[in-house]
Amino acid sequence: MGVIGVGALGSMHLRNLASLPACRVTHVADTHLSEGGAATAHLHGATLTDVASMLAPGTVDAVVVSTPTDTHAQLVVAALRAGVSVFCEKPMARTAQEARTLVDLARSRGAKVAVGHVVRYFPEYAAAYDLVRGKQLGTVRSARMARLNASPGRVQQWYRQSGRSGGVLLDMAIHDIDWALWTFGPAARVFATRAGEPGAEVVSVTLKHLDGQITYLDASWRDDAFSTSLELWGSEGFYRVAGSSSAGFEVSCPRTDQSGDYLPGPDSSPVPDDPYRLELAAAVDWFAGTGPAPLATAEEGLAALRVVEAAEASIQSRQPVMVEEEAA
Ligand SMILES: NC(=O)c1ccc[n+]([C@@H]2O[C@H](COP(=O)([O-])OP(=O)(O)OC[C@H]3O[C@@H](n4cnc5c(N)ncnc54)[C@H](O)[C@@H]3O)[C@@H](O)[C@H]2O)c1
Repeated sequence: MGVIGVGALGSMHLRNLASLPACRVTHVADTHLSEGGAATAHLHGATLTDVASMLAPGTVDAVVVSTPTDTHAQLVVAALRAGVSVFCEKPMARTAQEARTLVDLARSRGAKVAVGHVVRYFPEYAAAYDLVRGKQLGTVRSARMARLNASPGRVQQWYRQSGRSGGVLLDMAIHDIDWALWTFGPAARVFATRAGEPGAEVVSVTLKHLDGQITYLDASWRDDAFSTSLELWGSEGFYRVAGSSSAGFEVSCPRTDQSGDYLPGPDSSPVPDDPYRLELAAAVDWFAGTGPAPLATAEEGLAALRVVEAAEASIQSRQPVMVEEEAA
């Protein structure tokens, strides 16, 4: 495999790929390789090359694209045209139009594109999905989600440019938007607001799903440290996770049965396997034809981008914006 972009995420992906028995990272490409990226590549025996050489016939079977967001589409297109499978970091593209092009290209070529919507692989969020889908909380009418961080733009300048990163809405809120679409199904309408300056902003997004649920989510680049939370309110119980991926999550699950006794919650932290490793393992098995499609493919990458763009349109217009047609 090859890794394109060996920055913060690409270095981690390289280390995780190197730990997978089914995969060997032979090449990396990075237009401005940092010392850390070079050391990681060297440590794992990967050769530094450029993208065109990496995509030359017979060089790699698949690539990870972990470059700045505005470069994803052109790199994924090049890989697909070269007959190479792709794991692309989220967001799959800077715009929904680019994402649509990628979906169409992948379909027309029968090519495989996995997207790094890693929250689906966090055990606490996967457990929440199972609780909702298995109706163990009864009927869940709403979810509250938050994803807060310091501004990455303090270190990596491109995050401060909305045209490159899409700001906190595209870069951070998309994680929870994707989880909400996965769990509750398509969004009918979106209302969103934003405050702050580019690179240090907060957004608040409300989704009304076609099936009637409401997801409220906040994303911030104005906090001191990374943290996330998720609360689900069901007719028969409540589920809450809060924490950060580095510190582990605290899970409280005071679901009650009819006698009022507490039921055990799903397994909580420590995280049993790194979700970033799990998502790559699933993609690698799919690429090799030894496993099913991973949890997030190009279609899901596009669906999340469509909702992000509806949220951006809502911020601009100060009005709710329709995403999918609701039944009369
Ligand atoms: N899934 C997650 O939890 C998560 C977390 C952080 C970032 N991300 C995403 O990962 C992507 C990368 O983010 P990052 O924080 O690692 O960025 P980064 O700036 O740390 O690293 C990007 C690297 O790509 C290289 N690069 C830039 N343009 C290139 C090109 N055309 N060809 C080859 N290399 C190129 C840069 O030199 C740099 O080394 C972004 O899309 C971001 O949204 C995902």
